[in-house]
Amino acid sequence: MCGIFGYAGFRIAAPVLVEGLKRLEYRGYDSFGIATLAEKISIYKKAGKVSAVSNLPDSLQGTLGISHTRWATHGIPSDINAHPHLDCNEEIAVVHNGIIENYAGLKRDLIERGHIFRSETDTEVIAHLIEEAYSDDLLHAVKSVLPLLTGSYAILVISAGEERIIAARNQSPLVLGIGDGEIFAASDITPLLEYTSRVIYLDDGDIADIRPGEYTIYNGDSPIEKTISEITWTQDTVMKSGFPHFMLKEIFEQPDVIHHAIHSITEETLPQSLLNANSIMVVGCGSSYHAGMIFRYLLESACGIPVRLELGSEYKYSAVPFNDVIIGVSQSGETADTLAAIKKGICNNVKTVAVTNVLNSSITRSAHDTLLMHAGPEISVASSKSFIAQVGVLMQVINLLAGGTCTEALSHARQAIEQILITDLSKAVDLCSNAEHLFYVGRGVFYPVMMEGALKMKEISYIHAEAYAAGELKHGPFALLSPQTPVIAVCVPGTAYEVMLGNLKEMKSRGTPLIALGIQDDIDLNDIADILIPVPEAHPWIQVLTTTVLLQLLAYHTADSLGREIDMPRNLAKSVTVE
Ligand code: F6R
Repeated sequence: MCGIFGYAGFRIAAPVLVEGLKRLEYRGYDSFGIATLAEKISIYKKAGKVSAVSNLPDSLQGTLGISHTRWATHGIPSDINAHPHLDCNEEIAVVHNGIIENYAGLKRDLIERGHIFRSETDTEVIAHLIEEAYSDDLLHAVKSVLPLLTGSYAILVISAGEERIIAARNQSPLVLGIGDGEIFAASDITPLLEYTSRVIYLDDGDIADIRPGEYTIYNGDSPIEKTISEITWTQDTVMKSGFPHFMLKEIFEQPDVIHHAIHSITEETLPQSLLNANSIMVVGCGSSYHAGMIFRYLLESACGIPVRLELGSEYKYSAVPFNDVIIGVSQSGETADTLAAIKKGICNNVKTVAVTNVLNSSITRSAHDTLLMHAGPEISVASSKSFIAQVGVLMQVINLLAGGTCTEALSHARQAIEQILITDLSKAVDLCSNAEHLFYVGRGVFYPVMMEGALKMKEISYIHAEAYAAGELKHGPFALLSPQTPVIAVCVPGTAYEVMLGNLKEMKSRGTPLIALGIQDDIDLNDIADILIPVPEAHPWIQVLTTTVLLQLLAYHTADSLGREIDMPRNLAKSVTVE
């Protein structure tokens, strides 16, 4: 949800900033902009994607600058609303990730005092407030403006007269990259990987004074020392490596990802709170919520521990407090709603555990314990490997709580996923890409698998895909079934098999084409399915993984056949840092 990137060093800043923005583009991609500093501040900003930029204007001179890639919140995507935003004299430039909640009042007051605004954004007030506070010291001016702002922000600010960037953070991520003779500031580490592995994660209230090759960090009036961390992610992990899209690359990484996720959780790393839990609440949004639902089905049946499941965005309205353990599932670790749920738990003295892919993300700083997924960076906006890693981590948690009863089954996860990556889905892709509506149905633990499959399909192909618990369809949605509404179903041997087969026959009687994920030589299923996607016989946990991956591939190839922008679907952003 917006990415910011700044550079102070010895290289020409503009191309460094453009390349950095390309790495951050998955956070938001409706417009972008750059400000560099030489004699004066020069700006280049536009609606559209930074990846479409081929030439930069010659005016962008200098070895210091700031930049932004936007996911619009206040004001439509346009050249004018793109960041950086300037003060009246065009001597202060600001980029911002977050939301200034009290901007409307501040803007009214500034207009009364004679300021002229150019954009509809909340961010522009920051530039005008700094203009008022500025005499000759940008650090001082920024420090005096921050207490006036309510809301979330990671900002980078430059002024025409000083060779420095002032960076500040409150509730939006910001990290410094420490190079030799050059310093970077960014929303996350992806644009830093090609320059340095040494980073400093800023905390709320931190302000950094960045000059070419030097930095000082303040929290309050005095400078503070902060630990430099070494990052292990490498540059290759943010390259497509020959794949046409990041999403396909990330789907193909899943055999390794599941292996690492499962093995990263051991009896020693399992938080005590989970070992002692009488009940567990899981909170997440989107795909992470679906991973939480899989956890609920599997934990309840393996250990008999009751699980309450909440959407991050809805938990705040729940009047019934929860007083055992809360697990917050968030790939990015920055999702505002999931973070708010964790914080609500902490206020109620509840133990909290984060399941996340990003070390030092906001959720890891809030929760009492963290289980890291070790999936590596996920660039495609639609999650694939991070979902599999979440499920892998959560399965291993259940396995350990159940005394290791599924260790043998989990040892097959890597190979099982590897095998199905080459499944021929062409017939199913043809059927889906010609449909306007799809139903995804499953029972038990395969219901959240289908929810995840439908989410993938709609977000990257833009085909309307609706997931239902298979038994629910006849309670209303049956009215929509017709030869134009293909149904996609998982029907594998297990407790729900017979009843599922019955449900599918009922659907077929309404003339719906049926794509079934099931066992290849299942005669009964072959009788009713128009297309059978083979799922290898395996432990049900393994089939949860393989069916998930098959549905990812179905969505990917359908979207590809329709020529969609798979890695950056319209209107979306990778990490949703606003409620
Ligand atoms: C869908 C997807 C989203 C995220 C959701 C939560 O492909 O990726 O639904 O799962 O925005 O994000 P995290 O896991 O970062 O909290």
